[in-house]
Amino acid sequence: MSVHGTSSIICCLLLPMWIILAPASSHPQRSQCKLTQRTALCNNSNLTSVPAGLPSSTEELQLNHNLLKTLQDDSLQYPSLTTLSLACNQMEGLHPNTFQSTKLLKNLNLAMNNLYVSYTQTSNALKTLPGIKFLDLSENRLDEEMAAVLLQNLTSLEYLNLSGNLLRRLDETSFRDLRQVRELDLQRNLLFEIDNAFDGTPRLQRLNLAFNYLPCLTDFHMSQLVVLNASHNFIEWFITRPDANVTFQIETLDLSDNKLLFFPFLPEMSRLRNLHLSHNVVSFYEHLTDNVTFPNLTSTVDFHNLGRNTSTVTAKLWNDSLHGDVSSVELLDLRGNKLQYFPRGFIRKMPSLSRLRIRSNCLESLNLTSERFSASLLELDVSDNGLIEIAADDVTLRTLSNLTYLNLSRNDLDCSSSRRLFNLPGLRSMDLSYSNIGKCLREAGVAWNTTESLRQLFLKGSHLERIPPSAFSGLALTHLELSDNPGLRGQQSIKSLSRTLQHLGLGNTHVGELDFADFLNLKSLNISCNSLEHLPASVSSLDLRQLDLRDNKLSTIPSNQADALASKLHTVFLTGNPFNCCQSEWFRTFTTTKTVHVVGQSDIECADLFQTRSIRHYSSFLCRDESGESFFWYILLFGPICISLVGIVVIVFLTLKPKVIHKSIKKKYSKPTSY
Ligand SMILES: *[C@@H]1O[C@H](CO)[C@@H](O)[C@H](O)[C@H]1NC(C)=O
Ligand SMILES: *[C@@H]1O[C@H](CO)[C@@H](O)[C@H](O)[C@H]1NC(C)=O
Ligand SMILES: *[C@@H]1O[C@H](CO)[C@@H](O)[C@H](O)[C@H]1NC(C)=O
Ligand SMILES: *[C@@H]1O[C@H](CO)[C@@H](O)[C@H](O)[C@H]1NC(C)=O
Ligand SMILES: *[C@@H]1O[C@H](CO)[C@@H](O)[C@H](O)[C@H]1NC(C)=O
Ligand SMILES: *[C@@H]1O[C@H](CO)[C@@H](O)[C@H](O)[C@H]1NC(C)=O
Ligand SMILES: *[C@@H]1O[C@H](CO)[C@@H](O)[C@H](O)[C@H]1NC(C)=O
Ligand SMILES: *[C@@H]1O[C@H](CO)[C@@H](O)[C@H](O)[C@H]1NC(C)=O
Ligand SMILES: *[C@@H]1O[C@H](CO)[C@@H](O)[C@H](O)[C@H]1NC(C)=O
Ligand SMILES: *[C@@H]1O[C@H](CO)[C@@H](O)[C@H](O)[C@H]1NC(C)=O
Ligand SMILES: *[C@@H]1O[C@H](CO)[C@@H](O)[C@H](O)[C@H]1NC(C)=O
Repeated sequence: MSVHGTSSIICCLLLPMWIILAPASSHPQRSQCKLTQRTALCNNSNLTSVPAGLPSSTEELQLNHNLLKTLQDDSLQYPSLTTLSLACNQMEGLHPNTFQSTKLLKNLNLAMNNLYVSYTQTSNALKTLPGIKFLDLSENRLDEEMAAVLLQNLTSLEYLNLSGNLLRRLDETSFRDLRQVRELDLQRNLLFEIDNAFDGTPRLQRLNLAFNYLPCLTDFHMSQLVVLNASHNFIEWFITRPDANVTFQIETLDLSDNKLLFFPFLPEMSRLRNLHLSHNVVSFYEHLTDNVTFPNLTSTVDFHNLGRNTSTVTAKLWNDSLHGDVSSVELLDLRGNKLQYFPRGFIRKMPSLSRLRIRSNCLESLNLTSERFSASLLELDVSDNGLIEIAADDVTLRTLSNLTYLNLSRNDLDCSSSRRLFNLPGLRSMDLSYSNIGKCLREAGVAWNTTESLRQLFLKGSHLERIPPSAFSGLALTHLELSDNPGLRGQQSIKSLSRTLQHLGLGNTHVGELDFADFLNLKSLNISCNSLEHLPASVSSLDLRQLDLRDNKLSTIPSNQADALASKLHTVFLTGNPFNCCQSEWFRTFTTTKTVHVVGQSDIECADLFQTRSIRHYSSFLCRDESGESFFWYILLFGPICISLVGIVVIVFLTLKPKVIHKSIKKKYSKPTSY
């Protein structure tokens, strides 16, 4: 399975490397530990046993990335020890009396070992630790039986990590003794069933079930839980126990990357603040209950045999108003679902909503007024939907004064919607890429009235042809993205931003010579895909950090420009230009400057006298160089001489040995044929 084990791979890669790099083990083992105050750090030291002779006051001992296989009964003679870390060894088990002298041990890290081998023995050792609070057993190939044995009697445990093991199902025996446990990490196992497993853990607050195979979470009733992460499973249903009459403490619920069809059935009372539902197939269905289209549609679903104490859970499917308490929700992430609309009053139930992410759904219209979006809203991402209209009256627009980020890209918005939304008073960042805005400007023929707070404006691929000269006047944009608008005119309008602009995207706009001399604050410039034959002189005078020059018609970069750029640039993109190998001094300038990252170096090509190839092979180019003594001239000089010599040899050969040839020809033609 690909979902677990990356860290063990790293571990296993590090080990052999360390074996090679480690100093010869003739040193006494103690010297391989670094002592600081009461901590002994003996990581990465090729050790096969616990070093002896450390100060008896040692409180923390780290032995990660060594070669230990077991701990002998007498190996830990440090009575003050509270923390022991043995991650990434080859531990198969602990002898039962390992901890006889370390009764104060609280933290034990056994991650990434082979504890599945002798787990009963290890269990007996763990039982002798009366105060253990923190235990990491991640990545030890443990199944649920082994885990249950290992966790027997660990009544003081507060943190347990079992991630990356082989647990498949959990029941009430699994964590029976863990009465104090607060955090439990079960991610990256093979869990497909959980049956009352957490009834014995009344203090559990953080539970991670991510990356398992759970098909549903029904009868959810862990009211004390604060964080539940069940992302990356196969969950189709999330249903809270309906008759639970308590306020759930849950603040963060992560159900992203599952198979939810319905909005989760949340508790009737809760403190839920962060609700992550991205990448499911959630939709609302009340519009289907008109009983004409689907006359016999059942409106409830029953879940039977959920456990011993509960008989049946009935969920009313089609009633959109029955999704529980969302009154505290601040973040609602519904990216990549199938929403067509919000049920009436849905948004109104979330007066604290500040981040709403509905990218990549199927919304066709949105009425900010009727949904009563409130002043708490900071971020609204409705990009990549089928939005044609966003309705909002003036009062609503004024109310949304805290809305700073608005992403409307990849929609089909009508002109009046886009124009109105530019007026949002607090807007700082607006993305209208791949939308209709170009068409709107053409038809209206007037500039938009943009709010003064705007700093970042994205208008990629919007069919812009002409920007009115006064379009940006009065604005202090720092970020303007106009790429993918081929044939764009209106450079004059951009000039008015020369004092504030830090990023300018003009890729694939076919801009001609542009004078950048006034853009003193520009840090990032994209002029890729523009058929430029020369780098504009003004570019090298800028204080640029990033420059995209890909896919132009540059043959070289003059060395004075290259020098100037190299001293400031951090990143430069240069592929897709017909460079001349014989004028590639600039390449050496860029690549020898340590602070410049030349992206895709090996893909930059150039042509010399004979062929086009990677510019990195510059030592072997065939150039006609200035002094006239190039390889090319040698070929011109020696070529004819060689040909003459070969001719002379052939003639001599023919005159001296005519008989040999005669014979061989004869032989050839006297061969018997198959006829
Ligand atoms: C461990 O727990 C079992 C029951 O779960 C109990 O019978 C046994 O006495 C306990 N052992 C110790 C050492 O606490
Ligand atoms: C549990 O262990 C895994 C792997 O060792 C690690 O990635 C994860 O962060 C740990 N969980 C917690 C909550 O610390
Ligand atoms: C849930 O767990 C996954 C995997 O560890 C992690 O990537 C994700 O950020 C977690 N979700 C939250 C809300 O912390
Ligand atoms: C819920 O609990 C409260 C007190 O805890 C009680 O007054 C109320 O009647 C209960 N409601 C229901 C429907 O059981
Ligand atoms: C069907 O819908 C109509 C109006 O929408 C309603 O009056 C009627 O009671 C519904 N019938 C059933 C069986 O739900
Ligand atoms: C709906 O139910 C009625 C009676 O129960 C039945 O006669 C009818 O065929 C059903 N319609 C459909 C479309 O299943
Ligand atoms: C949905 O449930 C609410 C609350 O129980 C009820 O008021 C409303 O009438 C229901 N709507 C439908 C369509 O059944
Ligand atoms: C949006 O909602 C408001 C208030 O409910 C309503 O007056 C307006 O007509 C709606 N706009 C559209 C376009 O539906
Ligand atoms: C607007 O945002 C500010 C700062 O984030 C916050 O203090 C204020 O309460 C918000 N306004 C509303 C009505 O939520
Ligand atoms: C807007 O959303 C699109 C995806 O729909 C994303 O690619 C783009 O980066 C977002 N814009 C901003 C400014 O975050
Ligand atoms: C520059 O613009 C082009 C054209 O839109 C785009 O493909 C490229 O990714 C942009 N460069 C960078 C560094 O973002």
